[in-house]
Amino acid sequence: MIGRAHGKIILIGEHSVVYDHPAIVIPFYESTVSVTLKESPDNTIESDIYSGLLSDAPDLLHPLSALIETLQTKLATPSYVVKIESNVPIGAGLGSSAAIAAAITEAYYQNANLKLDRQTHFDWVQFSENLAHDNPSGIDALCVTRQDGWYFTKQSFSPLEINLPAYLVVGDSKMHTPTKQSVKHVASLLKQNEDFHNIIDSLGKMTIKAKDAIERKDIFTLGDTMNGAMEGLKALGLSTPTIEKLNQSALHNGALASKLTGGGMGGCVIALCYDKFTAEKVSAAWRDDFSINTWTLNLLGG
Ligand code: PMV
Repeated sequence: MIGRAHGKIILIGEHSVVYDHPAIVIPFYESTVSVTLKESPDNTIESDIYSGLLSDAPDLLHPLSALIETLQTKLATPSYVVKIESNVPIGAGLGSSAAIAAAITEAYYQNANLKLDRQTHFDWVQFSENLAHDNPSGIDALCVTRQDGWYFTKQSFSPLEINLPAYLVVGDSKMHTPTKQSVKHVASLLKQNEDFHNIIDSLGKMTIKAKDAIERKDIFTLGDTMNGAMEGLKALGLSTPTIEKLNQSALHNGALASKLTGGGMGGCVIALCYDKFTAEKVSAAWRDDFSINTWTLNLLGG
């Protein structure tokens, strides 16, 4: 039996969502995780980043090893070889840690023949995310375990249909910073100066405007809000020279908007394009000029 989960893409609202503002997130089905379990005398991990005994796993894997040990105790399961196969880039803003935690949890429940309801699934992923991030909003835990787009706040969330005559190009800037670090960085800015609170508030307002634009299928206003959000995220010190260059390249090639997605300080960039031709141009420029991986999503009927 296999546990599965997918990555996620935050269209707008990253970081401000930690401070009770809304964010908009969609599933990223092109990047997936699968986890299989095989009984073994000792808990062992097999993955691209580490293979060996769970007890010897590097600190980086602590949120996952704690999840595995706690699931084993709570569900009274035997020890397993936990085989993790993932093509969600790590630390790239696509929800890799949450997706792996979600797939592990599903695999444990399946092997124990237990029903896994949505809230329990969410809670287990948040258990692991709390160890990874300190203060996760829960947006990753929600989106990697569910279908649909979401309008999300820490207090409540509702499905948001993303059915837009547009394409989204995703590019991995290759520099990866743990989300914990970018979230801590923003927290320290907010302690220093009131101006940073204003930026967080304006990110929240732009997200509300973006939701309205999505509902009206107005991709031009959506693009404006995404570009505005990028300015705010840059002012919070979350951009990098490569992200700036990727944004310039996308806009130069006709994208309506280009911004970082997720924690930032590296990670992935998303470009909103009004047709397939432009999306292909943006993606080709990113691949040719920056030698990066890209994916293209059709937002119609998503
Ligand atoms: O970098 P990711 O994929 O973990 O996305 C993090 C999104 C943040 O808003 C920066 C943090 C959070 O917990 O919402």
